Parts: sequence; C-alpha cells; structure tokens
Amino acid sequence: MLFFEKGAAIHAEEVQVLSGESILLRPPRESDVEAAYSWDRDPELAAWNGRSPIRVSLSAARRDYLARWEDRSVKTFIIEAEGGPIGMATLYDFRRGGCELGIKIGPDALRGRGYATEAVELLVEYVFDTLGLENIRGSTLSHNHRMQRVFEKNGFTQVGDGSLLSRYDNRRYTELFYERRRES
Ligand SMILES: CC(C)(COP(=O)(O)OP(=O)(O)OC[C@H]1O[C@@H](n2cnc3c(N)ncnc32)[C@H](O)[C@@H]1OP(=O)(O)O)[C@@H](O)C(=O)NCCC(=O)NCCS
Repeated sequence: MLFFEKGAAIHAEEVQVLSGESILLRPPRESDVEAAYSWDRDPELAAWNGRSPIRVSLSAARRDYLARWEDRSVKTFIIEAEGGPIGMATLYDFRRGGCELGIKIGPDALRGRGYATEAVELLVEYVFDTLGLENIRGSTLSHNHRMQRVFEKNGFTQVGDGSLLSRYDNRRYTELFYERRRES
C-alpha cells in the first residue's frame, strides 16, 4: 500500500513521498548534499556503477547536485530509513513509454536488509500507477548478484546483455539488462 504526501522540497508540486514499511522515498533537499557526496566518493559504490569516484570539491558537487535535483527529466529520490538518508534511487531516460531505474544503498552496513527491495517495489507501483508508464528498465553488472536478486524479487526479467567499459578500472564487464512490464 502506498501513501502519498506532498514532498516539502525541490519539485514539491510534482514529486511525492512514497512510504513503505521500513523506508520512505522523498525528494532530495540541500541537507542531503553531504551524504550524496560521500556516496559518490566511495570507490566501492563507484565500481558497482562502472564509474570513477568523483574528485570535485564539496562545493562544486553541491552545485551539480542542486542542478541535477532541479532537472525535470530525472526524478531523484532519497531513500530514508533508520532516521536518516541511506541511499538514492533515480528514475531517468523517460522514453518508449517507460523509464530507467537506478539505485544505491550508501552505507555498506545497511545493505542486505531488504531496503532496496522495498524501494524498488514502491517505485514500480509509482511508475505504473501514478506516472502511468508501461515499462521500467534497469541494468547491472553480471557479478552484481545482489542487484539481480532485487530485480528478480520485483518481477523484472532479464531481457539481454551487453559489454560495458568500466570507467572505474578501464576493464570490460558484462552488463545485464532487465525489464518489468506493467501487467495488463
Ligand atoms: C545492490 C543494492 C542496491 C541492493 O540493495 P540491498 O538493500 O542491499 O538489497 P536487499 O537487501 O533488498 O536484497 C538483496 C538480495 O540479494 C541477496 N544477496 C546478498 N548478497 C548476495 C550474493 N553475494 N549473491 C546472491 N545474492 C545475494 C540477499 O540475500 C537479498 O535477497 P533475499 O531477500 O532473497 O535474501 C545495494 O546492495 C547497493 O547499493 N550495493 C552497492 C551499489 C550497487 O550495486 N548499486 C546497483 C548498481 S546497478
């Protein structure tokens, strides 16, 4: 069951708060900048995303985040649990009647507790029932078994694979593509 409230932050008029049993998803606010910065500087998180950790200063990162969080072509949500921000989920690349989903849980100690599974469940319901879209796409590296499990538990199916050149270490990895279609 989803409960919607108006988000008291960026895009308050259109981005909602999605509340689940253990987490909520809410729009980002300026006070989230330091958490987002610490996640983007974490080499392990960067490696899972095939990126390099960011090296810009906190003030430069702050400008980038605030601009990105204002960008109406991307919907960014802070995942909140245990009284604070624990991660981020993004809906982007809105086309062909669907969108792409990205997610991360920042602190290592908070992974494996079911938070991403619950976040994806809330986002699936939001994308289909509130945005009225027909499909959600996602991708992950073939050795990211945790993320594959999160997709599978939420009814996504693997629809293909590809090769990804990771900017983290300049090596090639296999990327798996997932999709969940709205049930008719
Ligand atoms: C991937 C990620 C988002 C998953 O979030 P999470 O909150 O840890 O995931 P959950 O706890 O909801 O579910 C993880 C599932 O994977 C399983 N799992 C954990 N480690 C595993 C492993 N090594 N092999 C297989 N399954 C594993 C868990 O048992 C759980 O499944 P279950 O509920 O059937 O037991 C999170 O771990 C993360 O942010 N990792 C680093 C960044 C990342 O990989 N982002 C995704 C990039 S595409």
